[in-house]
Amino acid sequence: MQRLAQALLAIGLVQAQSYPNTTNPTNSSSPLNDAQSPPFYPSPWIEGTGDWAEAYAKAQAFVRQLTLIEKVNLTTGTGWQSDNCVGNVGEIPRLGFKALCMQDSPLGVRFADYVSAFPAGGSVAASWDRGEFYRRGYEMGSEHRDKGVDVQLGPAVGPLGRNPKGGRNWEGFSPDPYLTGHAVAETVRGIQDAGVIACTKHYIYNEQEHFRQPGNFEDFGFVDAISSNVDDKTLHELYLWPFADAVRAGTGAIMCSYNKANNSQLCQNSYLQNYILKGELGFQGFIMSDWQAQHSGVSSAQAGLDMTMPGDTVFNSGFSYWGTNLTISVLNGTLPQWRLDDAATRIMAAYYYVGRDRDNVTTNFNSWTRDTYSYRNYYGKADYELVNQHIDVRAEHFRSIRTSAAKSTVLLKNNGALPLTGHEKWTGVFGNDAGENLYGPNGCADRGCDNGTLAMGWGSGTSDFPYLITPLEAIKRVVTDNGRALGSVLDNYAYAQIQALAAQVSVAIVFVNADSGEGYITVDGNFGDRNNLTAWGSGDALIKNVSSLCNNTIVVIHSVGPVLVNSFYDSENVTAILWAGLPGQESGNAIADVLYGRVNPGAKLPFTIGTSEEEYGPDLIYEPIAGHDSPQDNFEEGIFIDYRAFDKKNITPVYEFGFGLSYTTFSYSNVSVQKVNAGPYVPTTGLTTAAPTLGNFSRDLNDYQWPSDLTREGTFIYPYLNSTNLTEASFDPQYGLNYSWPAGSSDGSPQARIAAGGAPGGNPQLWDVLFTVTASITNNGTLPGDEVVQLYLSLGGPEDPAIQLRGFDRLSIQPNETVTFTTDILRRDVSNWEVESQNWVISKYPKKIYIGASSRKLYLEADLDLSEYQS
Ligand SMILES: *[C@@H]1O[C@H](CO)[C@@H](O)[C@H](O)[C@H]1NC(C)=O
Ligand SMILES: *[C@@H]1O[C@H](CO)[C@@H](O)[C@H](O)[C@H]1NC(C)=O
Ligand SMILES: *[C@@H]1O[C@H](CO)[C@@H](O)[C@H](O)[C@H]1NC(C)=O
Ligand SMILES: *[C@@H]1O[C@H](CO)[C@@H](O)[C@H](O)[C@H]1NC(C)=O
Ligand SMILES: *[C@@H]1O[C@H](CO)[C@@H](O)[C@H](O)[C@H]1NC(C)=O
Ligand SMILES: *[C@@H]1O[C@H](CO)[C@@H](O)[C@H](O)[C@H]1NC(C)=O
Ligand SMILES: *[C@@H]1O[C@H](CO)[C@@H](O)[C@H](O)[C@H]1NC(C)=O
Ligand SMILES: *[C@@H]1O[C@H](CO)[C@@H](O)[C@H](O)[C@H]1NC(C)=O
Ligand SMILES: *[C@@H]1O[C@H](CO)[C@@H](O)[C@H](O)[C@H]1NC(C)=O
Ligand SMILES: *[C@@H]1O[C@H](CO)[C@@H](O)[C@H](O)[C@H]1NC(C)=O
Repeated sequence: MQRLAQALLAIGLVQAQSYPNTTNPTNSSSPLNDAQSPPFYPSPWIEGTGDWAEAYAKAQAFVRQLTLIEKVNLTTGTGWQSDNCVGNVGEIPRLGFKALCMQDSPLGVRFADYVSAFPAGGSVAASWDRGEFYRRGYEMGSEHRDKGVDVQLGPAVGPLGRNPKGGRNWEGFSPDPYLTGHAVAETVRGIQDAGVIACTKHYIYNEQEHFRQPGNFEDFGFVDAISSNVDDKTLHELYLWPFADAVRAGTGAIMCSYNKANNSQLCQNSYLQNYILKGELGFQGFIMSDWQAQHSGVSSAQAGLDMTMPGDTVFNSGFSYWGTNLTISVLNGTLPQWRLDDAATRIMAAYYYVGRDRDNVTTNFNSWTRDTYSYRNYYGKADYELVNQHIDVRAEHFRSIRTSAAKSTVLLKNNGALPLTGHEKWTGVFGNDAGENLYGPNGCADRGCDNGTLAMGWGSGTSDFPYLITPLEAIKRVVTDNGRALGSVLDNYAYAQIQALAAQVSVAIVFVNADSGEGYITVDGNFGDRNNLTAWGSGDALIKNVSSLCNNTIVVIHSVGPVLVNSFYDSENVTAILWAGLPGQESGNAIADVLYGRVNPGAKLPFTIGTSEEEYGPDLIYEPIAGHDSPQDNFEEGIFIDYRAFDKKNITPVYEFGFGLSYTTFSYSNVSVQKVNAGPYVPTTGLTTAAPTLGNFSRDLNDYQWPSDLTREGTFIYPYLNSTNLTEASFDPQYGLNYSWPAGSSDGSPQARIAAGGAPGGNPQLWDVLFTVTASITNNGTLPGDEVVQLYLSLGGPEDPAIQLRGFDRLSIQPNETVTFTTDILRRDVSNWEVESQNWVISKYPKKIYIGASSRKLYLEADLDLSEYQS
C-alpha cells in the first residue's frame, strides 16, 4: 500500500533528471510488447471443493441470512485510516459480527506494540527447513490472532524475485518457485492453524516498485501502471507455481497486485482471476485488492474481485467503486446477485475454514496511534475510546526467532577462521551495520532508512521491533564474559580509526549491508528497488580498509538479497564470509551463535550470487518508455531467472543457488529410485453446479437509504444510498452509460470445468507420487551438523532449464552417522505446461535427477523411467 502524495514526491525526488525519450532496449521488438490478456467470464463461484465443504456450508448458512446491504458491508473496506487496522470492512451489528480486520505484514504484526519482529521471508528461506517455515507462520499467526486480526497480509510470493534489485523481494522467499512453494505452503498452514486467515500476495508479476501504480512524474507527466507481459508457459512453470502451493495449502485470501498483466489491470483481470486462480487453481477463498489497486466497480466484481481495500477509490476520497455503488449495481441488475453472494460466501468460508468463529478476539490495538485512548476512526476523528490495550502477544517467540535466524545464516567462505573460540586476544568489530540505529530500532517510519544494523527491509512489510539485539552487543558479551579485549568502529568513513584498530586486532569482524523496500519510501535515492547490487555505505571500501591490515577478516552481510562480493571474496585476508539475511529482533544473538559455534551453520543460499547485475537477466525498468502509457515490461527471459539464467548462459557464479558450508563435512552415496504406480493423468471434465443465490433482496429503494440516525464519520465508506434516484445516488457522471459488459459475465448457469483444475491447487493428480528417491548422507566431520540435501531434475527438453529444484530436506546428522534422505517426485515435478492443450504433460525427453549439496555440487544422479506417461 502507498500514500499517493508521498509516493509522487518520492518519485519526483529520485527521478528529478529529465527522461530520455529512449525505449528500453530489452523491450523494443518483443512479441510480448503490448500483449493482451484474454477475457474469461463468468467468475467461478465457490463450490466447497477439497477440504472446504464444511466451511462452505457454514458460510452459505451465514450469508443466506444477510440483507443486500449487509453483504456489501462484508466486501467493502470502510476507507483509509477509518478503523483500527490497515483495512477493515463494515460490520453486521444485527448479527453481532464485528468489522473484519486486515493487518500487515508477512513478518509480524505491523503498527502495533508488544509484538515480535520475525526474520524476513527471504531470510528464513535460507533455512530450507519446513519446520521453521511452519513454526514462524504459526507464531506470527498467534500474534495476529491475539491482537484481534482476522487476516494477516502475508505471506508474500510475489515478487518472486525475477530481478535481485526488486525492492520487495525480501518479503517473499526465493526466486526458485519450488523452494518458495514449500515455504508458502508451510507458512499458510502455520498462520491458519493459529486461527487467522492468511492472505498470500501479491498476485501476480509484481516484480518491481518503479511504476507499479499510475502516477504523475516530473518531466514526463502521467505514466500508467507498468504492464508485466508474460507468456502462458512462464506463468505456469514459474510465477503461478507457488500460488498453486498456497491455494492447495488452503490460503483463505489472495491479494491482487498494483501492476497490470498483459496490459490488463490485475484486480480486474478476468483471465488471471477468473480463469487461472478461481478456475484452474480452484481457489475457494477470496480475492482482496491491494490498497488502491481497484480501478473499477462492476468490472472488477465480474472479473473476480471479492473485497476492496481499503475501500475508497483513492485514500479518503469519501467515494468507493463498491459500497454504495455495489449496492446499486445489484439493484439495477448490472451485477447478478449470485456474484455478490459468491464474494460474501468466499469471505465467510475463509473465516470458518481457519476457525475464526472460535478465535474472534476483538481488535485491541489501533494502527494509527499508540495512545491508549484515541479515535478509533483516526482520519474521521470519531469514536474516541480505548483503542490500545497494549497487550503483549509475544509469548516465548524470541527463542524460536533466534533459532530460526541462526538456522538461516549461510556460511559462504571459511578458511578455518570459524568458529571463533571467544578467547581471541583482541576482537575488532567494524561497520555501521554492527551497531544501533541512533534514532532507535523503530526510529525511521516503516524502517525507511539504513542506519545501524539491518534486520528487516522497509515499507509495509515490517513490524516494530520490541528490541533489536545488535551484533556488537552480542559479540561483546561473549568476549567480555571471557575477559578478552574488544574494540569497535561503527562509522564506515572513520578511516584513521578503522585502520588503527584493524592493524592491531587478532580477528576483525566487518558488518556490511544492502537494503530495499516498498516504493512509497525512498532511501538514499533508492525508490524501493535497489539501484545497484553492491553493499551500501561504502561497504566494499570498509572491507578493504580492514582486510588490507588484518589477515583474519570475517565479513558478515545483512541484505535483502544478493550482494556483489567481487572486491573481497577471494582476498586471502578475508578468512570467512557469512550471509545473515534480515534476521529480525534477535539478529546479534543469532550471528554470535554462529560465529562462536553454538550453532553449526546449515543454511544454503536461496538465490545466486553472481559477479554483475547483467548476469541475472533483464534490468528493472527505471524510466518510462516513450510511446507507451504503461511501461511494457516484457518477461522475455521466460522461466530463466536466477540459477536457471546462469546455467543457460553458462556463467559461473561466485556462490551458486543452494550453496552453504558447515563446520563439519558430509558425503553422499547410494541413490535409489523407487517407482510408484500412479496411473494415467486424467483431465478434469464435466460441469460445475449453477451459481447459487442466497436469500432475496428487497426492490424497495427506500430500504437502502441512509439511516436517519447515522452520522457520517469523515470519509467513512458506507453501503447506503443518498437518493431513491440511482443515478443521483451513484455520484457517478458516467452512471448508466451503455457499456457492453463482457459476454457471459452474468451467466450463472453450470460451466465447463477446466481440465488442469479440479481441486484447490489444480488437478489433484498433479500431486500423485511417481517416484520415491532416497540417498545416504554421512557426516564425516567431527561436529554434529545440518545438511540441506537438494534434488534437482532435468526435464531434458531443448526449452527446459538444465536443472531445477524438485526436492530438499534439512537433516541433522551426528559425526560418523549416516542418515537417509527421502523425497517424493510428484507428477507435477516432471511435467511441463503445454500451451496448446492447456494442461500439464510429461514430455518425451529423458529425465534425470541429481542429488547434491547445491545447484552445482551434484554428487549423485539417476534416470527416471517415465515411459508409460510420456506422449
Ligand atoms: C519526448 O518526446 C516528445 C515527442 O517527441 C516530446 O514532446 C517530449 O518533450 C520529449 N520528452 C523529453 C523528456 O524529452
Ligand atoms: C455496515 O457497516 C457499517 C460500518 O461498520 C455499520 O455502521 C453499519 O451498521 C453496517 N450496516 C449494516 C446494515 O449492517
Ligand atoms: C461510484 O463509482 C464512481 C466511479 O465508478 C465514482 O466516481 C463515484 O464517486 C462512486 N459513488 C460513490 C457514492 O461512492
Ligand atoms: C466468536 O467466538 C465465540 C467464542 O468462541 C463464538 O461463540 C461466537 O459465535 C463467535 N462469533 C462469530 C461472529 O463468529
Ligand atoms: C540515518 O540515515 C539517513 C539516510 O537514510 C542519513 O541521512 C542520516 O545521516 C543517518 N543518521 C544517523 C544518525 O545515522
Ligand atoms: C549502491 O547503492 C548504495 C545505496 O544507495 C550506495 O550506498 C552505493 O554507493 C552504491 N554503489 C555504487 C557502486 O554506486
Ligand atoms: C593481509 O594482511 C597483512 C597484514 O596482516 C597485510 O600485510 C597484507 O598486505 C594483507 N593482504 C592483502 C591482500 O590485503
Ligand atoms: C597474520 O598476521 C599475524 C600477525 O599480525 C601473524 O602472526 C600470522 O602468522 C598471520 N597469519 C597468516 C596466515 O598470515
Ligand atoms: C450522503 O448523505 C449523508 C447523510 O446526509 C452524508 O453524510 C454523506 O456525505 C452523503 N454521501 C455522499 C457520497 O455524499
Ligand atoms: C448500475 O450501477 C452501477 C454502479 O453504480 C453503474 O456503474 C452502472 O452504470 C449501472 N448500470 C445501469 C444499467 O444503470
